[in-house]
Amino acid sequence: MDHQIPRRNLGGFRLSIIIWVFSIVGVTMIMNFTVEAKCDFKAIFNFGDSNSDTGGFWAAFPAQSGPFGMTYFKKPSGRASDGRLIIDFLAQALGLPFLSPYLQSIGSNFTHGANYATLASTVLLPKTSLFVTGISPFALSIQLNQMKEFKIRVSQQNPSDTLYIGQSLFPTYDIFGQSLYTLYIGQNDFTSNLAAIGIHGMKQYLPQVVAQIADTVKELYDLGGSSFLVLNLAPIGCYPAFLVQLPHNNSDLDMYGCMISYNNAVIEYNDMLKNALDRTRKTLIDAHVIYVDTHSVYLEIFRHPMYHGLQYGTKACCGFGGGDYNFDPEVYCGNRKVVNGSTITTTTCSDPENYASWDGIHATEAANKLITWAILNGTYFDPPFPLGEYCELHPIG
Ligand SMILES: *[C@@H]1O[C@H](CO)[C@@H](O)[C@H](O)[C@H]1NC(C)=O
Ligand SMILES: *[C@@H]1O[C@H](CO)[C@@H](O)[C@H](O)[C@H]1NC(C)=O
Ligand SMILES: *[C@@H]1O[C@H](CO)[C@@H](O)[C@H](O)[C@H]1NC(C)=O
Ligand SMILES: *[C@@H]1O[C@H](CO)[C@@H](O)[C@H](O)[C@H]1NC(C)=O
Repeated sequence: MDHQIPRRNLGGFRLSIIIWVFSIVGVTMIMNFTVEAKCDFKAIFNFGDSNSDTGGFWAAFPAQSGPFGMTYFKKPSGRASDGRLIIDFLAQALGLPFLSPYLQSIGSNFTHGANYATLASTVLLPKTSLFVTGISPFALSIQLNQMKEFKIRVSQQNPSDTLYIGQSLFPTYDIFGQSLYTLYIGQNDFTSNLAAIGIHGMKQYLPQVVAQIADTVKELYDLGGSSFLVLNLAPIGCYPAFLVQLPHNNSDLDMYGCMISYNNAVIEYNDMLKNALDRTRKTLIDAHVIYVDTHSVYLEIFRHPMYHGLQYGTKACCGFGGGDYNFDPEVYCGNRKVVNGSTITTTTCSDPENYASWDGIHATEAANKLITWAILNGTYFDPPFPLGEYCELHPIG
């Protein structure tokens, strides 16, 4: 039964109980606690889109080519970046190996979690096909079903064994209460029809999107989860791809070159998400439902790239066309296309460490590292969630 799964107790909570017990028995003692930060997270289960896909989409539909992965993996790794993603840095910080994609049938190791994210995933079930509009069939509800299936498979094994099933390593059954659950999804619901239906049209279904994210947290709680990080939506009005593709005029650009109208719509969406999670938190009193304001970190990086050691905010490292954005929707990073009888290919900057945007849509490893630093710092958690007190955080260099 789900309810028999022990939920993880946080280190700080345990410490206060110890102090309480000592004071009850009246023992006078020198409190010489070396507050040993002991991290209880044995695994991470992640749900998302390309912002956190560590190879799921390409496991199902292999095709990725260079220059993806050039900075860290030195080859395409199924990640939509030149290197590591926020989820990779989070795993490293918690002392865990990178997450295997749930869809990866060869060489996966699920003892420390699984990643259900796939590129181009939406929260709401798509009404179209991958082969028509490029939207992934693995929407959030499918990812949740995969998680449920994963748990059933784990439960069918001897609970004390870690064992191979096929070629995959499985965790023990008590893992589900000792894991961090991360959700980083919604960007494709927001942007995939935006050019066609406009902000007003898109806003019609945002309440459904946030409701489904909140429901997913509740379902994961019922599966034994108790610590949830839900990352909000980035300021897509600063993304090179959207600056090129979404209709706007110069009066819609702010002093940082970002589109005001679209960024305001993101803020409205994020407020809605935050409120939905506030309500969810009240119903799951022994859980940590944390809203992570990555939006603020992204915005700061786009506005002041140089304060953070970067050179370019709204210009893509990999793309076609040069100029302010180096983005052309006809020739996406890594692709080639015959135009006017000649083949055009994208170019890649030699210094992705100086860019916030990798390909116009996704962050570089450099930006992902800055964002993860900020997350780990705890300033962007609502309510506060001092990860560094619960866990001995490893450097993410
Ligand atoms: C699987 O990952 C665990 C850490 O969660 C590690 O201890 C183990 O060595 C890994 N096994 C293989 C075969 O990679
Ligand atoms: C810019 O776009 C906005 C909204 O689309 C419109 O109201 C405004 O008139 C436009 N301004 C100019 C100078 O074209
Ligand atoms: C292709 O040719 C058309 C018409 O001459 C021109 O407008 C367009 O810019 C050309 N495209 C490229 C990529 O050179
Ligand atoms: C966390 O971030 C805040 C705001 O950026 C900063 O003032 C603070 O020094 C940071 N703390 C740590 C421990 O890095």
